[in-house]
Amino acid sequence: MSNQSTKSIYLETFGCQMNELDSELVAGSLGALGYRFTADADEADIVLYNTCSVRERAEQKVWSRLGDMKKRKRDHQPDLIVGVLGCMAERDGTDLIARMPVVDVMCGPSELDKLPELIDNAVRTKSSLAVNDPAIAIRRSAKQVALQGNASRRSSTLAAAGDSLESLDLGRMLSPVDFDGRRSAYVRITRGCNKFCTYCVVPHTRGAEIHRPPEHIIDEIKALADTGIIEITLLGQTVNHYRFEHDSAVSVDGILQPQKGRAYKGSHNRDAFAGSNTTTFADLLYRIHEEVPTIQRLRFLTSYPRDFGDDVLQVIRDCPRICRFIHVPAQTGSDRMLKMMNRGHSIAEYDEFIGRCNEFLHQPEIGRPLMLGGDIIVGFPTETDEDHELTKQLLTRTRYKNCFIFKYSPRPGTVAYDKIPDDIPDEIKKRRNNELLMMQSDISDSIAQEQVGTEFDIFVEGLSRHEHKKRGTDVKPGSGMVGITIAGSAMQSQTATLDPIAQGPTVQLSGRTDGDLIVFFNVPAVGVHSPNDYIGKIVRAKITGADKLTLAGELV
Ligand code: SAH
Ligand code: SF4
Ligand code: F3S
Repeated sequence: MSNQSTKSIYLETFGCQMNELDSELVAGSLGALGYRFTADADEADIVLYNTCSVRERAEQKVWSRLGDMKKRKRDHQPDLIVGVLGCMAERDGTDLIARMPVVDVMCGPSELDKLPELIDNAVRTKSSLAVNDPAIAIRRSAKQVALQGNASRRSSTLAAAGDSLESLDLGRMLSPVDFDGRRSAYVRITRGCNKFCTYCVVPHTRGAEIHRPPEHIIDEIKALADTGIIEITLLGQTVNHYRFEHDSAVSVDGILQPQKGRAYKGSHNRDAFAGSNTTTFADLLYRIHEEVPTIQRLRFLTSYPRDFGDDVLQVIRDCPRICRFIHVPAQTGSDRMLKMMNRGHSIAEYDEFIGRCNEFLHQPEIGRPLMLGGDIIVGFPTETDEDHELTKQLLTRTRYKNCFIFKYSPRPGTVAYDKIPDDIPDEIKKRRNNELLMMQSDISDSIAQEQVGTEFDIFVEGLSRHEHKKRGTDVKPGSGMVGITIAGSAMQSQTATLDPIAQGPTVQLSGRTDGDLIVFFNVPAVGVHSPNDYIGKIVRAKITGADKLTLAGELV
């Protein structure tokens, strides 16, 4: 490949954790080829947006960015390269280029292993097309497109397609990205989704469900642990449906995987369908816990409320480094809505699952209360006040620590978009949304209050927001890598330089409990330990106060 070493890239990420991980991996592979990353979009030669399609608003943000790039290219930077990656690229396909000719590169989430080649081609075509008239330059640039296309929801070629993408995740081990002091990382265990909830674009954009071989996952986690990572979050759209059949597995280089049996033997309720050559989600959790003990915190996102066996709950209960936090969206409290959403379970089954979670995992007496997270969609077509009332009741009885509430957004290509008119007026969606947000805020608040007086292990992430404000330093969103901006990301860079002396006698740090509660606590600015020594470590603290979603603690 040519030209890349002098080019700088600005990469901005929208959407879910899966996209954050994709951006990190793509940045790793491009960085290894000599591309430089910049946090300043204005100075970049190449601007890439890793996009999300899940709601219309997510797409609108990208359209507005592309509008700005159109001006920039026309007015002063005709050789700028603009790329749209991720779910929006896959969903809109080449229609996107027709509407926005400023886009040179499009790459769907299942094709990201091809991105370096696409960018290299774009760079080379651009330089061979040096023309004075920017309008001509924009039109003439050869578009570089790699999309999976809906037609190819792979079946027979599934394993092969999975394998070529597999190289993207595995690339992390070959050219470890600069972790820059980070202690947390995402690891994908499953790609795609087969659920086809009627409102959701994800099965259309991410393709069919593929489970990664456990050996690859564990090797990747070991490699991350070697760089100092102590917290891993396993990612999948329905993460608990992870299941790897060793018989049929083919690795990246075409060599059959060794036939590893199931690892977790503690369960009395074995899954009748899983043979000895199957690694289930419970097995995978157990293996990671046992084989990479330096990982202090093992999390997973997102759980699907159906087919979540007792074996998984038992592993979580028995393994101290697996976190007591389950993000398990219900979407609605109404059976009628659930059916129309094609969620494949009833509210009674959801309640039964939450009951089982609490029975197995809720241990406040040892500072490990189970915390639940959820997602709700309001204003799904035909939703009545009665349905909405049922959702309120669900919030009240489930008591999520946090719950994302979304207004239904019809997405072209989904069953709901094609078959069910979006008949709930926006004012009603807004009202229901606000009602649930207020309810959830009260619930989160009372859960926080209940923690006062309890001791927790806290994973220290960095300066608190308050401390940042005091110092006038930005809480940098993103994964800690230069030039990668993550919109709405929960992850914060942990690279703050502490200059305690100038700031006062104490420094306020922020961390999380294994149940994902945020805790602020003060440490002396000068003394035996520097505040920096705490970051990335696990400390014990007693909760002394609670304000809305955050807890105040004191080191014990
Ligand atoms: N796989 C996860 C969710 C992935 S999408 C699961 O099934 O739980 C994240 C969330 O976005 C969903 O849980 C849902 O609440 C919301 N969402 C998805 N499609 C949406 C749409 N069309 N309109 C509004 N919210 C949507
Ligand atoms: Fe979308 Fe449903 Fe799959 Fe979640 S399970 S990604 S909501 S289709
Ligand atoms: Fe968005 Fe794609 Fe994630 S649509 S939520 S970026 S899987």
